[in-house]
Amino acid sequence: MSVDTSSEWQALVRHKEMLASNSMVELFASDKERATNFSISLSDLLFDYSKNCITADTIDLLAGLADAVDVAGQRARMFDGTAINTTEMRAVLHTALRDRKRKNLMVDGVNIMPQIEAERSRVYGFAGAVRSGSIVGATGVAFTDVVNIGIGGSDLGPAMATLALSPFGDGPSIHYVSNIDGAHITDTLARLDPRTTLFLVASKTFTTTETMTNASTARAWLVAALGDGAVADHFAALSTNQAAVANFGIKPERTFVFWDWVGGRYSIWSAIGLPLVIAIGAKNFDAFLDGAFLADQHFRDAPFKENIPVLMAIIGIWHRNFFGFTCHGVMPYDQRLARFPAYLQQLDMESNGKGVSLSGEPVGYSTGPVIWGEPGTNGQHAFFQLLHQGSDIIPVDFLVAANGFETDVRHHDILIANCFAQSEALMMGRGVSEAEALLLASGASEADAKRLAPHKTFPGNRPSNTFLYEKLEPHTLGMLIALYEHKVFVQGVIWGINSFDQMGVELGKEQANTLLPAVAGNADAEGISASLINAARAKRK
Ligand code: F6P
Repeated sequence: MSVDTSSEWQALVRHKEMLASNSMVELFASDKERATNFSISLSDLLFDYSKNCITADTIDLLAGLADAVDVAGQRARMFDGTAINTTEMRAVLHTALRDRKRKNLMVDGVNIMPQIEAERSRVYGFAGAVRSGSIVGATGVAFTDVVNIGIGGSDLGPAMATLALSPFGDGPSIHYVSNIDGAHITDTLARLDPRTTLFLVASKTFTTTETMTNASTARAWLVAALGDGAVADHFAALSTNQAAVANFGIKPERTFVFWDWVGGRYSIWSAIGLPLVIAIGAKNFDAFLDGAFLADQHFRDAPFKENIPVLMAIIGIWHRNFFGFTCHGVMPYDQRLARFPAYLQQLDMESNGKGVSLSGEPVGYSTGPVIWGEPGTNGQHAFFQLLHQGSDIIPVDFLVAANGFETDVRHHDILIANCFAQSEALMMGRGVSEAEALLLASGASEADAKRLAPHKTFPGNRPSNTFLYEKLEPHTLGMLIALYEHKVFVQGVIWGINSFDQMGVELGKEQANTLLPAVAGNADAEGISASLINAARAKRK
């Protein structure tokens, strides 16, 4: 049965009609404790979801929907290693990577826990040696720079986290090259010295065109300076495909593996985290894993109505399926989380951007929203206009630390005030008569006040969540990421889709391979893109 025909879904449709007449301002007025009643703490994190158009009944009904589709059962199956990625027949066990105490977990007759521990200790050993300078380049000098070559899940997680945790960065400088656009690797290499540069080729499949092309460019750059013999000393690989890594010429002792039960966008906890370990050290990476593990325990154990990722998910379902909101904004008031929205874009949109159910039937309802965002306060001076007065309503997640790392706290006070002000303004809005009164008070004529007031009104009643944490430390970041992972999981279960494959990326890749010979001038252009290809060729110099 399709979830939208269930009695739980239909009850929510009716509930929404009843609730629609209540504004959030009224909900706050009728419950003085609303902010605390609709907030949950986990470790140093406070999740405040009070500024949504919900009541306790809404949460009851949404939790009932999660129950009806057996979120708890599917959650148990994910954690125990059942092959819940049914299109690829794979287990989904990124959670096992951060369970540092567990000793046994069988997948296909193999206990994966000793494998995880052994590989993590290899990663830590190598990272430690690079950091201390006991592993050196071909000319005997220590590495000052590490270039991670990868894309998607083999780039976004470590790149996001390296920036996020830069106050803990006490190792070599880490650079990330992902784009096939030659500008990316060229501009990166231009700043580097081959003698002191280590390359990490990060690719789950070790077949991805972008990564393989960038890696071969890096190899050529290194060989031109130091000769063929330097490759073994200056390259390491992070992959599930050991045969392809060996073909590239990377030694087994420089190959760090993970497994097909780790999805690319869930792989930061695996060997894909190596650049982050080199940046911040093993102790900090352990804290990062432990933060995620804490979120896992919370997700497994807390009742749905006190479970942060479940609440994030069901409120998202409420917005997407019952209000029809198409986007979800993520606005970190935290400059070092600048790449967090991009990271979440892959996590959420590659997971839940699906239009067919597990059984292959088209779903008859909306699934994953568009995820986007930028750090505040920059966004305020760019696109927040639309959030406040645009014709579409976009729910927002605000993230902010109570403390920065900087000594001049004036900046941080202003940052926090702005963050809280935005969620308040989005919810409160400003009516036309108030706008008119303010104009008159500021000396405008009656005619001008009437004319301008509609432009200065804010509809309000626009939803947001706020994530407030003590400080952006490794433990907190690990926790935050894992909470979002589980949110995406719960939504996927409710929508009845497979959140763990990404077959929608294939068609474009195939087409690019088909068009390449004509673009490169080795074949005649044919088909839909022929005229564009010919135009491009005519403009090539
Ligand atoms: O094309 C999408 C994708 O497969 C992502 O899911 C993945 O994270 C990325 O490409 C990179 O893949 P790989 O790690 O195998 O190079």
